[in-house]
Amino acid sequence: MNEKIVLVLLLAARTFSTFSTDLSEFFEKKHCDPKCTFDSRNLSSKTIDLFPKTCSTVCSDLQIGEDCDLTEAQLTSAFLNMKRLIGNIFVVSTKFRSGSFLAGLESIECNNFDVMWVLNNQMLEIGLTNLTSISCVGFQVTENKKLVRLNMPNLKNITMPEFPKPNDKNTKLKFHSESSDFCITIEEMENFITANVINVDETSGKYCAPVTTNEKNLCMSPSLCQKVFGDVEVGPNTNLDSIKMIEIIFGSLIINGTNVTDFNFLENLKYVASFTADKSGIIVENNPNLQNISFPKLKRVRASNPATIVFDKNNKYLSLDVDSCNGLKNALGITTDWSPTIDGNDCCKQ
Ligand SMILES: *[C@@H]1O[C@H](CO)[C@@H](O)[C@H](O)[C@H]1NC(C)=O
Ligand SMILES: *[C@@H]1O[C@H](CO)[C@@H](O)[C@H](O)[C@H]1NC(C)=O
Ligand SMILES: *[C@@H]1O[C@H](CO)[C@@H](O)[C@H](O)[C@H]1NC(C)=O
Ligand SMILES: *[C@@H]1O[C@H](CO)[C@@H](O)[C@H](O)[C@H]1NC(C)=O
Ligand SMILES: *[C@@H]1O[C@H](CO)[C@@H](O)[C@H](O)[C@H]1NC(C)=O
Ligand SMILES: *[C@@H]1O[C@H](CO)[C@@H](O)[C@H](O)[C@H]1NC(C)=O
Repeated sequence: MNEKIVLVLLLAARTFSTFSTDLSEFFEKKHCDPKCTFDSRNLSSKTIDLFPKTCSTVCSDLQIGEDCDLTEAQLTSAFLNMKRLIGNIFVVSTKFRSGSFLAGLESIECNNFDVMWVLNNQMLEIGLTNLTSISCVGFQVTENKKLVRLNMPNLKNITMPEFPKPNDKNTKLKFHSESSDFCITIEEMENFITANVINVDETSGKYCAPVTTNEKNLCMSPSLCQKVFGDVEVGPNTNLDSIKMIEIIFGSLIINGTNVTDFNFLENLKYVASFTADKSGIIVENNPNLQNISFPKLKRVRASNPATIVFDKNNKYLSLDVDSCNGLKNALGITTDWSPTIDGNDCCKQ
């Protein structure tokens, strides 16, 4: 989309709602200290003196935008003591190379808006290295041309806002960059995908090359252990006992040409997160004896293909079993129409 149009839409959406009483009501409910409230929104040389620099909890709907004429050092010093933000952050169209001026920030408690970092075309990393908790309906990092890393290694406590709207069901993390070097670390993905109420389907990119020495229980496929990087293929000659310890796969799971009747051999598998272009997260094919398609502990699957879980050419009766298909769909919190598919049809079309 054209940059200017994106910007106009974003700003219009915010302008109409943030000046409503919503935000002041929210600050009241959150017991904001007026001395620690910054309501100018736009931070620039005109407003920086009003920023409550000594407060560790700040209430603000903070906007750092095109008109921000401050240096990264000035911002760093303004935010030095801020650990908890009640409200929101919107970093848009800035020239900054890093967002690390907010590196001390530990938690964000949003009202109804997504945290957004957009159109920062010089920015290489978000750099919120101490950010641990967000309670927001969304966190969007998009349309930043040169972004190569999130550098948000500690964000793991992801919850819904305290006062969500009725239609808000989960927190959507939408991380994307136009740079082909953009990557997400496996530690970041593990933090995201294991959070309770999360949707990472719209995050795109690839994994950064993993540093195995960082992680005790990580191994590279075809080695198998608790956390496997790369695709896991279960075929006719696979020793199913070797699969038992896997909890998370940073890649796809392929079960192809076996005699298995159920997935009880995947007794610890909880998460599958693949980033390979167009590849499904779980592919189950040519298993004529398969009868039960529920996974003992599987909680979430993400893939860069909307058909996240695909069953093909297994026991032909499976494709008639609408209840099992929907059971699997519900167990994984899938709300789209596409997945799982059995012999090319999604659950409700069987
Ligand atoms: C705040 O910033 C936005 C874009 O960054 C700009 O459109 C708006 O005019 C600014 N508002 C004020 C009061 O300066
Ligand atoms: C981040 O947290 C660590 C550990 O609590 C602390 O030492 C460091 O100063 C914090 N970083 C910033 C930029 O505040
Ligand atoms: C997680 O975030 C929520 C909401 O911000 C907060 O109340 C809770 O204390 C946090 N938990 C941890 C372990 O940081
Ligand atoms: C699967 O079952 C068939 C028929 O019983 C048998 O011939 C084949 O060897 C089995 N394959 C495996 C991998 O156990
Ligand atoms: C499954 O095995 C068949 C036969 O070996 C092969 O043609 C097919 O590509 C495999 N499917 C996947 C998804 O690997
Ligand atoms: C299918 O497998 C699940 C767990 O793996 C189990 O809880 C369930 O009872 C099985 N269903 C049938 C009909 O055997």
